[in-house]
Amino acid sequence: MKRVLITGAAGFLGSHLCDRFIKEGYQVVGMDNLITGSLKNIEHLFPLPEFEYYHHDISKFVHVPGKLDYILHFASPASPIDYLKMPIQTLKVSSLGTHNLLGLAKEKQARILVASTSEVYGDPTIHPQPEEYWGNVNPIGPRGVYDEAKRFMESITMAYHNFHGIETRIIRIFNTYGPRMRLNDGRALPAFMSQALTGQDLTVFGDGSQTRSFCYVSDLVEGIYRLLLSDYHLPVNIGNPAEITLKEFAEEILALTGSKQKLIYQELPKDDPKQRKPDITKATELLGWAPKVDRKEGLRITYDYFKEALNK
Ligand SMILES: NC(=O)c1ccc[n+]([C@@H]2O[C@H](COP(=O)([O-])OP(=O)(O)OC[C@H]3O[C@@H](n4cnc5c(N)ncnc54)[C@H](O)[C@@H]3O)[C@@H](O)[C@H]2O)c1
Repeated sequence: MKRVLITGAAGFLGSHLCDRFIKEGYQVVGMDNLITGSLKNIEHLFPLPEFEYYHHDISKFVHVPGKLDYILHFASPASPIDYLKMPIQTLKVSSLGTHNLLGLAKEKQARILVASTSEVYGDPTIHPQPEEYWGNVNPIGPRGVYDEAKRFMESITMAYHNFHGIETRIIRIFNTYGPRMRLNDGRALPAFMSQALTGQDLTVFGDGSQTRSFCYVSDLVEGIYRLLLSDYHLPVNIGNPAEITLKEFAEEILALTGSKQKLIYQELPKDDPKQRKPDITKATELLGWAPKVDRKEGLRITYDYFKEALNK
């Protein structure tokens, strides 16, 4: 049986990855320090003999007894309100934490996949963003703590690949959504949905003309699974290229929830990217991957989840 370590296991993406790898017949070791995650996301896995859980801060030395075939590094605060509240932990987890996990991968001769982000492109000056684009990031702006830490994570991962010859994979994830996101995590979709569901007006930043593209979580997980098992070590974008302005997105959520509230506009946060859309040519050509769940379907499933979460 193959054994995989998943960091950030109690978070939104980590918990879906735990489910997927258990389903594929792996032994899964989850690790988390719960700074933004919740054990609720993985409590259904605790009775399973093929699941183990370690409460641990990966920015400190990481030890896992026994063999490991794969490491999936998904630990990091991911939403702007989280990383603005925890700037130092955010910098540490993608720098010191990644270093610790690369050391572990070397020790165990395991293949490691690290979760990078479209934020490495910053406020992009080319559109859509292909992997060859180097980005436009403000290193000392408020978002720098996340963006630069992820850029460092990519650099040290490539260094371990080139210098130590370990097997590495780098995924650049574009905005992903689905069940188990936190209603109050500050990202656009949970914010709009919780406002719509609790009778508040929807807050749109700026004039709402900035664009994003939203990928449903099962599509992302499929992309991660394929990339891990591929033999490609350079970064690969995974995201849904269907682009929408935030104003249109808020209107879609009002229509979906049947809410009568209006949109209210607030000042655009500093360094907020104006546009975001992945070029997924590489993922399609190398992995045969393309998103399958359209926004209408994905939003419906996510809405049902949030409705239930609010009533609990
Ligand atoms: N969700 C997205 O749209 C998106 C987009 C791009 C990249 N990513 C990346 O994917 C990963 C997961 O994101 P998410 O949306 O699931 O966020 P999340 O906040 O739901 O999950 C992150 C998990 O990591 C844990 N964690 C944080 N620091 C830790 C540490 N030092 N030690 C151990 N555990 C720690 C948190 O407690 C949490 O459970 C992150 O690395 C993020 O940067 C996510």
